[in-house]
Amino acid sequence: MAGYNEFVPDDANVIDISGLKKSYFLGDMEVPILHGIDLRIKKGEFVAIMGPSGSGKSTLMNMIGCLDRPTDGKVLLMGKDTNVISDNELAELRGFEIGFVFQNFNLIPRLSAYENVMLPTYSNAKKGMDTSTRARDLLKLVGLDDRMGHRPPELSGGQRQRVAIARSLINDPSLILADEPTGNLDSKTSAEIMGIFSDLHKKGRTIVMITHDPEMEQYVDRVVHIMDGYVGNN
Ligand SMILES: Nc1ncnc2c1ncn2[C@@H]1O[C@H](COP(=O)(O)OP(=O)(O)OP(=O)(O)O)[C@@H](O)[C@H]1O
Ligand SMILES: [Mg+2]
Repeated sequence: MAGYNEFVPDDANVIDISGLKKSYFLGDMEVPILHGIDLRIKKGEFVAIMGPSGSGKSTLMNMIGCLDRPTDGKVLLMGKDTNVISDNELAELRGFEIGFVFQNFNLIPRLSAYENVMLPTYSNAKKGMDTSTRARDLLKLVGLDDRMGHRPPELSGGQRQRVAIARSLINDPSLILADEPTGNLDSKTSAEIMGIFSDLHKKGRTIVMITHDPEMEQYVDRVVHIMDGYVGNN
């Protein structure tokens, strides 16, 4: 699949969400979480999503990344309606165009940092890419040159976070979705991580980052506030 970023105009909406609703069902009881969200994010934007714990930020991120299906409403991702595209197309989008940094990292404990970064390439590798060299380069980029062979239990929280970021970049995605990438990090490490995201932003990546930390506002183009499942002024 050709890189999305190369083929669309600069004002294209990478994410175009309308009327998005999500409920969870506990037995027969419907628990509405997202109440009808409209949100557009353009190519190359760096957007922070902020809101209190439990307001639905991760739920929204999961919908954007097609990890879960909406109860109602539309999610267009890179111009494609995720409700109607084929499973193959969806797998390609997820595998090649989107990099995820999960709130709990989702690293595999028995694999080394290097192997964790390589993991997405075992199922989806970009043709012609030297994935092994790229994995090493990304680990260097996030400052883990000397920790490539360590497994996650042998790494600090900040170091695990960096492995998760390196892994999200392995297939050179045009869209990065990061759920609290600086959560639980000290301010120095947070600034380093944000430096990495700023560089990626300068290189044209679209970044959507969930955060609790008002300090992060300085790095982003726009803040979207979410409260009780609604998007406020932005
Ligand atoms: N799988 C699920 N089943 C039922 N309820 C869920 C499920 N996942 C999330 N919820 C509920 O949905 C609401 C929103 O959760 P979500 O994880 O999106 O919040 P959040 O804004 O990311 O919070 P935090 O800042 O703590 O990460 C919460 O009340 C949560 O209990
Ligand atoms: Mg969350």
